[in-house]
Order: sequence, then C-alpha cells, then structure tokens
Amino acid sequence: MSARDPPWGRFSRTRTQARSMLADEIRARRASAGHGEDGDDVLSMLLAARHEDGSPMGEEEVIDELMTLLVAGHETTASSLSFACADLVHNPAVLARLVAAIDAGEDEYLDATITEALRRRPVLPIAQPRMVVKPIEIGGHRYEPGIALTAAIYLIHHDETIYPDPYAFRPERWLGVRPGTFTWLPFGGGRRRCLGASFAQLEMQIVLRALLRQTTLSSGAPPERTARRHITHTPEQGARVTLRARTREREAVPA
Ligand code: HEM
Repeated sequence: MSARDPPWGRFSRTRTQARSMLADEIRARRASAGHGEDGDDVLSMLLAARHEDGSPMGEEEVIDELMTLLVAGHETTASSLSFACADLVHNPAVLARLVAAIDAGEDEYLDATITEALRRRPVLPIAQPRMVVKPIEIGGHRYEPGIALTAAIYLIHHDETIYPDPYAFRPERWLGVRPGTFTWLPFGGGRRRCLGASFAQLEMQIVLRALLRQTTLSSGAPPERTARRHITHTPEQGARVTLRARTREREAVPA
C-alpha cells in the first residue's frame, strides 16, 4: 500500500482486477462454439440461464452472480468441510458410525454430522452487524439508534445451557432434533440469513458422502487450532488428513 492510497484502495484495485478477469472469461466463453452454454460448470449454467422474458443475463449480472458464489459460497463451504473432516478424524467412533450409515445408504446420521460440524465450528463466528433503528432492550441493556449489534454465533453455539458439553463433537445430539431458529446460527438469521444455506448443506452432504464412500480418513497429527483466513475461520493447517482408497473394502459395499 502506498502512502497516498485512499481508504479501500487496495480492495478496490483487487476487486476491479477480479471483475476484469471474470469479464474476460465470460467474453471468451460467449465467443466459443455453443456460446459457453453447453458445459456442466456453474458459469455455463449462468450463461445458459434466461430471464422470464427470454433474455440472457448481462455481463455485469453474471459477474455479480459469480462473485457471490466465489466469495460468499466457496470458502465458507470449503472451510466447513475442512472442519468436519478435522473433527471426524479425531472422533473415531463418530467417523465409524458415519461410514456405516453412508454404506447403508442412510442420510440421517450424515445430516446430523453436518449440523454438528456447523454448530461446533461456525466458519463465521459472528453474523453481519445490524443497525439499531429504534431503541431496544436486550438482556437488560438498552441500545439506541445508530448502534451496530451483531449475533455472536460462536458463543451461542457453545452456551452449555443450550448445548450440554458444547465443545464435544457429537452428531447424536441432532438425531430426531431440528436445529433451533435462534440457537443454531451458522448461516445467521432473519431477513439477511445466508442465501446459500440449503445449497451449502447439500454440497457438504454430496462431498462427505463421496469422500467416505471412496476413502478412509485418518490423521497422525494432533487437532489443529483455528486460524483466520480472510473473513472465515478455518483449521490452521487446512485440515491435514490422510486419505486411503477403500477399493478392496468397497467391493463388499452395495453401489
Ligand atoms: C457452509 C457454508 C456457508 C456458511 C457457514 C455461510 C454463512 C453465512 C452467514 C453467517 C451469513 C450472514 C447472515 C446474517 O448475518 O444473518 C451469510 C450471508 C450470505 N451468504 Fe452464506 N454461508 C455459506 C455458504 C454460502 C453459499 C454457498 C452462498 C451462495 C451460493 C452464500 C451466499 C451468501 C450471501 C449472498 C449472503 C448475504 C445475504 C444478505 O446479506 O442478504 N453463502 N452466509
């Protein structure tokens, strides 16, 4: 950063650079045979999408959609999956039960594991701040307009009056239990709740199922500390896990 850099100067330059790279890619795809609409990746789907009047998305719209997927959707989901793997290898009983459930084609324990991973390791420890627009009292404290409040997701997820033994990774706590609107907040809540929550959970389900059907997970390393990576929390070493192919074992597992 130079001494004369304006506030947000580096951010603005990086954003301009990223948008221009995406614009180049969109133009190259649109100039290609099939106009870039015949692939099976996300960009092809966006290029093939049509508004209600039949018109395609403009370049700016496609860039905005891609930015949302890349910035809000990629690192959050990847870090949540990393935490899930890191917790699984250090909880062998949970891992064994999960593998057995996946092999049996049952989703309940898989969903419970994902819910627990998102509780135990919320990659965004706080929700987006909300401005107070009219005076409000919360927990005996009065807040005036102009104050920004934020929900402390991590603290709520580790409140032992809500979650007994809150630091334990225990998917069993979710069997037959629906996550509470005000107590399970990995995706925030209210009107600004994460737009990609269902997509992210589906993605986690698909990845974990495929991973554990095809490989065994292990780790000789101690549990990793949490580190900050851009705006998300992530395992400090990126979740170092050893994967071994389950080929021989899988022959006995129905497809
Ligand atoms: C495990 C993965 C994810 C986690 C933990 C996560 C978490 C969050 C959280 C905590 C918020 C703030 C909500 C609030 O303040 O109430 C948020 C907002 C948002 N997320 Fe996600 N997210 C994930 C995946 C995704 C994906 C896959 C997408 C897009 C495809 C996405 C798009 C967004 C958008 C657009 C917002 C802003 C919503 C708004 O301000 O109205 N997120 N996310």
